[in-house]
Amino acid sequence: MAGRIPQYFIDQLLDRVDIVDLIDGFVPLKKAGANYKACCPFHGEKSPSFTVSQDKQFYHCFGCGANGTAITFLMEHNHQEFRDAIETLAQQAGMEIPDEATSNKPQVKTKTEDGIDLYKLTEKVSDFFEQQLKNHPEAEAAKQYLKNRGLTGEVAKRFQVGFIPDAWDTLMKEFGGTEKQQAALLQAGLLTKNDDKNRIYDKFRNRIMFPIQDYRGRYVGFGGRVMDDGEPKYLNSPETPIFHKGAELYGFYPARGEIRNQSLAIAVEGYMDVIALAQYDINIAVAALGTALTNTHLQRLFRITPNIVICFDGDRAGRQAAWRAMENALPLLEDGRSIRFLFLPQGDDPDTMVRQHGKETFMRLVNEAMPLTDFLIDTLKEDCDLKTLEGQAKLANTCKPHIQKLPEGVLKTLVMERLGKITNIQAESLNTNVAHSNQTNSNQNTNRSQGNQRQVIHRGNNTPQLSLISRAISLMLQNPKLARTTGDVSVFLNTQLPGYRLFAELVQTVTQNSGLNTASLLERFRENKHVKTLEKLAIHPHNLDENQLANEYQASIEKLRESLNELELDMLINKEQNDGLSQDEKIVLKKLLESTKKR
Ligand code: GTP
Ligand code: MN
Repeated sequence: MAGRIPQYFIDQLLDRVDIVDLIDGFVPLKKAGANYKACCPFHGEKSPSFTVSQDKQFYHCFGCGANGTAITFLMEHNHQEFRDAIETLAQQAGMEIPDEATSNKPQVKTKTEDGIDLYKLTEKVSDFFEQQLKNHPEAEAAKQYLKNRGLTGEVAKRFQVGFIPDAWDTLMKEFGGTEKQQAALLQAGLLTKNDDKNRIYDKFRNRIMFPIQDYRGRYVGFGGRVMDDGEPKYLNSPETPIFHKGAELYGFYPARGEIRNQSLAIAVEGYMDVIALAQYDINIAVAALGTALTNTHLQRLFRITPNIVICFDGDRAGRQAAWRAMENALPLLEDGRSIRFLFLPQGDDPDTMVRQHGKETFMRLVNEAMPLTDFLIDTLKEDCDLKTLEGQAKLANTCKPHIQKLPEGVLKTLVMERLGKITNIQAESLNTNVAHSNQTNSNQNTNRSQGNQRQVIHRGNNTPQLSLISRAISLMLQNPKLARTTGDVSVFLNTQLPGYRLFAELVQTVTQNSGLNTASLLERFRENKHVKTLEKLAIHPHNLDENQLANEYQASIEKLRESLNELELDMLINKEQNDGLSQDEKIVLKKLLESTKKR
């Protein structure tokens, strides 16, 4: 019996197939503007209202409302079951369905068809780059660059730093003698193919090369740094069967022993940070490869130590990166594990810090790093005036969804207690608050009709029929990249208002998975009870170009944030009248009433 088809595979599959090609095979499509059109195969019609969007990888019919992804199309048009539809697509894409029941890992081929081992090839290339740094006549500038940055020959050797000269065919000449070898270099991400002209050339040129080893020490890819102000500053190997940016940590393999010994790992941002720290005898640093610290990264570290210090720049970007890392880390914080944050002064990174102040000072900062839960509460506190009841409630409310992500245990209890102390939300004071709120309610209730009017605020000109939240969902579904501009969604997760949680979940799905388009996003909500609504919103006509869509989205998020309190107030008043409120809800209502009175 075949097991469940893993989500990553469905993502990969939808990424690989093109819905335009697929449907064109059944219903000849004509290009019409940005989309493709045909007479709808699902109902009889003379003029075409069936539209396929290549961007969204999604089809819909304005006539009968049929819509969906490539998978849906096969299910509806060819009457295939979900699994059969996937099988058909997988066959077309030359992919094999892995079985979640038997294996959690994608079946990746780490050898070419001709049996060339990509790991071994990458290792040979790494040796070659090291040789180039030593011997190539043009390597002088590279050596000078490394020297200027303070690297000793010893540490450069330890990290096998290399060099590739300024040419289009360095690796082609050295390793690409036959077509089979070229194919292997391509698969290892070391050559690039120019799609137009079918030309193949070196991916890396005139760069300092840092080889990247996976957790088992196999050579999987490279980071290449320019030696001037060129762009991009760092070029990484692309995703290949052996290299996955979101899973690998630079420096992990050489540091793993020492991390175990010292029971501590330091996560930094850059290659040069790892190397500089090692030069100063701090051999426990690792770096994500220019991506956020993922769950996978943290879990890998937690397998060898319970203690992680994450080191970021102290600027806004650094704080944001830390926030994302924190959100990823919360569910992993079982008792006994600790994650702490070290924010360096503006303009500094571990590389400059350790060179300027030395090992001792740097390690003192590491040892004094801020516990994750302090960072959580302190950051959220900034937006709350804790001298007021509203501020205290706001802090409690914004913290709660995060704290709920902690696994059950002592830490969670302690953090809850601490939050209780800070916000003064203890049994006694809570009770008085609720009593007070009962008095004020009757006044407020006379204003209910006014309150209900607020519920229908903000009707956009283009789409009078969508509520504010539906509009936000619709805009985001149609251009999932927008989700990344949403900002913190915890307030949306925290409200009972219909749709808000779903919206937040959609945003999180996009931000936690790279490269989702409308189709692959919707596929992840296939089992969601609101999927039909989502499908409608995904095709709701906004008649906006990409820029306008982005602006509209921003505007609707702002409005959502502004109106959240008002809408929640209305809902609670309503609920109190009809079903009564829970203790928690009474507290929220009381706060909301007080804050509206002030305005
Ligand atoms: P140096 O300037 O060499 O000291 O680098 P840094 O590590 O201090 O630079 P930065 O803080 O800008 O970058 C941190 C890490 O982000 C780097 O080590 C890279 O992994 C990654 N990174 C930086 N710039 C780029 C880029 O242009 N492209 C990509 N893909 N990654 C980058
Ligand atoms: Mn740096």
